[in-house]
Amino acid sequence: MAQLWGGRFTKETDKKVYDFNASIRFDKRLLERDCEGSVAHAAMLARCNIITQEESTAIIDGLISIKNDVLNGNLLITDEYEDIHSFMEANLIKRIGDTGKKLHTGRSRNDQVALDMRLYTRLEVIFIDEELKKLLDVILQIMSENTDTYMPGFTHLQKAQPVTLAHHFGAYFEMFKRDRDRLKDIFNRMNYCPLGAGALAGTTYPLDRELTASLMGFYGPTLNSMDSVSDRDYLIEFLASLSIISMHLSRFSEEIIIWNSNEYGFIDLDDAFSTGSSIMPQKKNPDIAELVRGKTGRVYGALMSLLTTMKGLPLAYNKDMQEDKELTFDAIDTVKNCIDLFAGMLSTTRFNKEVMAKSAMMGFTNATDAADYLVKKGMPFRDAHKVIGELVVYCIDNGTDILSCPLEKLKTFSDLFEEDIYKEISLETCVSKRLTIGAPGIDEIKKVISFYKEYLSTDWKDNILEQ
Ligand code: ARG
Repeated sequence: MAQLWGGRFTKETDKKVYDFNASIRFDKRLLERDCEGSVAHAAMLARCNIITQEESTAIIDGLISIKNDVLNGNLLITDEYEDIHSFMEANLIKRIGDTGKKLHTGRSRNDQVALDMRLYTRLEVIFIDEELKKLLDVILQIMSENTDTYMPGFTHLQKAQPVTLAHHFGAYFEMFKRDRDRLKDIFNRMNYCPLGAGALAGTTYPLDRELTASLMGFYGPTLNSMDSVSDRDYLIEFLASLSIISMHLSRFSEEIIIWNSNEYGFIDLDDAFSTGSSIMPQKKNPDIAELVRGKTGRVYGALMSLLTTMKGLPLAYNKDMQEDKELTFDAIDTVKNCIDLFAGMLSTTRFNKEVMAKSAMMGFTNATDAADYLVKKGMPFRDAHKVIGELVVYCIDNGTDILSCPLEKLKTFSDLFEEDIYKEISLETCVSKRLTIGAPGIDEIKKVISFYKEYLSTDWKDNILEQ
């Protein structure tokens, strides 16, 4: 048991207590970020004349060699250390001797872990944003190829009005675009450095907090040392944004599952992205979409868990906060994996355009347009709504649809019907005339597609990474 705090104790820690308290099993993930933070701290200590330049160099070289040895598999992170911070410090002292004992000057594990977790999360915000961007590329590609792929639009899962595949996918483009905006906001709000807050009350050493903040690419230091060591808001926001991403993926998955069903047959999933049944030879199951939908539960769980952990915690640091890690790591891994697999599944899916168009023609998706036709010929909308309602009942009773009714029949419902009704309520017209901003009309969706292309050609991260 290698601990940093033996001095005050006359008895060894109980083994079970030690195991319960230790976090090395999961915080070893923070290795590289812990090294990054300690390197910046050591550099700053020398610039502020708190340690010598030679000591600083020895510490920095030592830290980097430990990190590299772990990454190359030459040094193992074992359970004998309480956490990643103890592991680094113990190994540093082993390598460079007493100078290593100076690294923790003016620092506490409280500001150290607050920093490590922020550095880790900041990178993951960028990685997840990158995954979303790749998913948007796939969605936009499918949109560009399907501006005239007709399909029914639904409300209450009942056929409502015809739309296009491009328009339907555009809805998801908007959702994931907002998700990226949220990540950008989170990045900008969290990008302040807690290092130098000490245990809770800062320190009497003349630390240069501006320097460490800028060495690690933060906008600046945090401004209240008690908040710095106990703020986990940024993790909660991040988990909330991951939850919303999961919710969007789950809705999309649900549609994929429905569209892939035998009844709908709108799409065929690629063999590489579907699975079979151990008993029913005919089956090709949408397991990936189902798993993406299912994993939403654990991401929401992480959010609820951390919100509950933080509720009622007095200032400043409390050990409860160690619970922020496992669930955050799990949510990050889960969401990254889900976006990646979902994008792969979408990009290999085949769309059965004829089946979709046929489905759009059935189910009276042109009934609103038929009513609008009568309105344009002078009938008030409420009357037109009633006339078309009666016509729909007639069609249902006689197993037909509006377009198949001869003009003489239509005239028995209203003498405003003329020969042009057939063109006016055709699938193509129903869609192409919808040209208000955000509507599925082909000319309108093409404008939106070029706006999305422009949007994807720039990246909020470029500005940040350049700094
Ligand atoms: N493993 C701890 C955590 O994750 C590190 C901070 C420990 N600080 C302390 N005062 N015990 O929160």
